[in-house]
Amino acid sequence: MNIQQPAAKVNWATGNLEGKKVSKTVRKLKHLEGVFADEEAYSSMDPETVVYEVEVLEQEQPGKEGGLLFGTSYLYPGKVGDEYFMTKGHFHEKRDRAEYYWGIRGSGLLLLMDEQGVTTAEQVFPGSLHYVPGHIAHRLVNTGSEVLAVGACWPSDAGHDYGSIADRGFTARVKESGGKAATETG
Ligand SMILES: [Fe+2]
Repeated sequence: MNIQQPAAKVNWATGNLEGKKVSKTVRKLKHLEGVFADEEAYSSMDPETVVYEVEVLEQEQPGKEGGLLFGTSYLYPGKVGDEYFMTKGHFHEKRDRAEYYWGIRGSGLLLLMDEQGVTTAEQVFPGSLHYVPGHIAHRLVNTGSEVLAVGACWPSDAGHDYGSIADRGFTARVKESGGKAATETG
């Protein structure tokens, strides 16, 4: 029997993925126009500031039916005005596709919003496991002072619909208030 190499190597302490099929995306402030409420604070910051990075093991071609993708997101600590750094957030293009998230490092919130605009939040911490059902938009927020690393596994044909979020946003924001994270709806 011929023993093969595994798909990739994961450092479970940091989330770091290593392998030939691992791709990396960097999202800077300049890629997040319109995401944060305080536009004045946003435009006063360095647009090259890295907000988050995503490593994806593309074991299957994104878009392919029947496969799974696996990744780690690294969301840096920071704020725009009093609003914590967060990911763009998305629904899946194929709306019924679900996803697992799990906390690896740091602390934050996972915002979950249904198609009627009702948003809930779950605490993210090392070891937290989150099930994101289909038809639910999801966004990570780093409310801590260190990098928030979160693992994910999702169907390779799920796709990302960022457009709906860019148009209407989430119905809740997470801001620092009196030194603590507070959610604000509206
Ligand atoms: Fe997703």
